[in-house]
Amino acid sequence: MGGRIPDDVIDRIRDHFDIVDVVGQTVQLKKSGRNFFGLCPFHSERTPSFSVSPDKQIYYCFGCGAGGDVIRFLMETEQLTFVEAITQLADQAGIQLPRSQGEMRRDPEEEKRQQLRKVTELAARLYHHLLLESDHGAQAREYLTERGITRGTMEEFQLGFSPDSYHFLHSFLKRRGVDEKTAVEAGLLVERDSSRGPSACFDRFRGRIMFPIHDTQGRVIAFGGRVLGEGQPKYLNSPETTLFYKGKFLYNLHRARKAVRKAEQAILFEGYMDVISAWQAGVFTGVATLGTALTESQARVIRRNAGTAVICYDSDRAGQNAADRAAEVLKEQGCVVKVAKMPPGMDPDDYVRSRGADSFSGEVIAQALPYPAFKLESLKAGFNLRDEEEKMGYLTRAIEVIAELPRAIEQDHYLRRLAEEFHLSLDALKQELRRIASKKRGSNGDKGTGKWNNGYHRGKHMVGQERRPQAHEQAEKRLLTAMMHDRSVADRVMKTVGADFNIEIHAAIAAYLYSYYSEGHPADPGRFLRYLKDDRLLREASGLVILDTPEVTEEEISDYIRHIRNYPLHKEIERKKEQVKQAERAGDIAEATRLGVELIRLREKVHKQA
Ligand code: UTP
Ligand code: MN
Repeated sequence: MGGRIPDDVIDRIRDHFDIVDVVGQTVQLKKSGRNFFGLCPFHSERTPSFSVSPDKQIYYCFGCGAGGDVIRFLMETEQLTFVEAITQLADQAGIQLPRSQGEMRRDPEEEKRQQLRKVTELAARLYHHLLLESDHGAQAREYLTERGITRGTMEEFQLGFSPDSYHFLHSFLKRRGVDEKTAVEAGLLVERDSSRGPSACFDRFRGRIMFPIHDTQGRVIAFGGRVLGEGQPKYLNSPETTLFYKGKFLYNLHRARKAVRKAEQAILFEGYMDVISAWQAGVFTGVATLGTALTESQARVIRRNAGTAVICYDSDRAGQNAADRAAEVLKEQGCVVKVAKMPPGMDPDDYVRSRGADSFSGEVIAQALPYPAFKLESLKAGFNLRDEEEKMGYLTRAIEVIAELPRAIEQDHYLRRLAEEFHLSLDALKQELRRIASKKRGSNGDKGTGKWNNGYHRGKHMVGQERRPQAHEQAEKRLLTAMMHDRSVADRVMKTVGADFNIEIHAAIAAYLYSYYSEGHPADPGRFLRYLKDDRLLREASGLVILDTPEVTEEEISDYIRHIRNYPLHKEIERKKEQVKQAERAGDIAEATRLGVELIRLREKVHKQA
């Protein structure tokens, strides 16, 4: 990480800030013992499991495992790249970043991205100007006005128009001296077969209303273009470029983020026009996907900014199926999910236009159903409830849905509602629920947390009544922690244990530690965390660092090492013992004897010393 910015500059920036202050701007912190605690900004919780250590200058959440240093915190909460976070902090600290003077090696990829941003921004300004001020844009202005979009909104969203010509943008960029290749890479021009002569490029967007798509910093990175009126395709989007990944960004996030955080809720729409109409109606928390189904990465972004996501999709079949999928993805990331119901045949934009802003926020958004209720409701569409047999079919499916709910009180709530609605006895429904649940558990093996609200489960698991870690796991953790604080311990472990940690992620952290020290870095847990590039490793390692570690003695270290080295042997011994027993039970004395000898050999192998 940060290969381009010298380490000492990064250290100076990091040292300039107290992580407690920086985190304190986003999270309300209370001191407890040596650490500060608060509600985790990365997952939804009611009791604080998010901790900040002023001694170690790191944060860690015991609920969701998020962790890192002050730079990481900024990256995560503001969705910044490492370089962007450093730049922002350096600015605040008044620390000069070495730039063009050749002190900092130029990053060719970043330079490329900058070029792409520049043309994209230039095109956005041209399109916007054309829409608002030119004769070319008259028809488009009229179209949008017809759809109820005010001039103020066109300005706010920087809407634009691309004239119906193959070379409008092309010649404009040429006059501005923009390299054709760059404009092609930015997805603005399309390259014709190059054998056809010199002027082989033409405008991608022709005769379309242009919706600029911004990154989280508010820089234009792509466009969606809508035909005026009817035509195919209705929306044409920029292709994916080095700046733009459809699955990573959300339309309008940079504008909505503040409101989303404040409301602790984001509204997810399907279309650009929905977001814009809602905004104009005073609903400022809307975002939308970019013409694809909601991805895990987009859901994570939403989760980082809000605990609750309200899905507000079209009321048609396709829309509702998409809502179902989006809900699952959001829950996986730990969001509380609600679904807003649209009247048949309407999308949110239609609704705002026909029934007005107040009705939209007061009735549609405010009355969004919690996801289980929505699911039970939409399930009904597949059954004819007047038919007794189909009604039973519905009830079975409904109870299956309820059985998947993570909390008993939630299950109880929906069972009661079902009982009331269908005039059934609650006991009978409960019995049925237990039957279904036990069948489920049977088929799930021991992984059975179910697919509901994993984030929640994970949170629940790690706080309080946590599963007791096994001795070898504990030994590995303690050892890794000691290694992070003391290079000589790491050297010793490298020689004795090497890569043979029994838990894969521990082995990976150890490997990073070995190379961290071999590159001459000092023992400094905070700094080591920064050195870890992998998210999963970072989380795990922060978890180790945040725990207060009493001084470990030589003897304890030897103990841990021995434990780790012997663990696979002990496992093998247990297995052998079991096999001996089985052979004895089966009356196969020869086999039992043979296994018994193997067992003795194994026991001899157990290390007595580290
Ligand atoms: P819709 O077809 O629901 O359009 O597509 P809409 O938002 O209601 O637009 P209007 O009201 O007709 O103007 C929803 C979203 O799906 C993507 C776009 O992101 C659009 O906003 N889409 C749709 C495409 O990418 N390509 C298409 O051809 C159609
Ligand atoms: Mn629409």
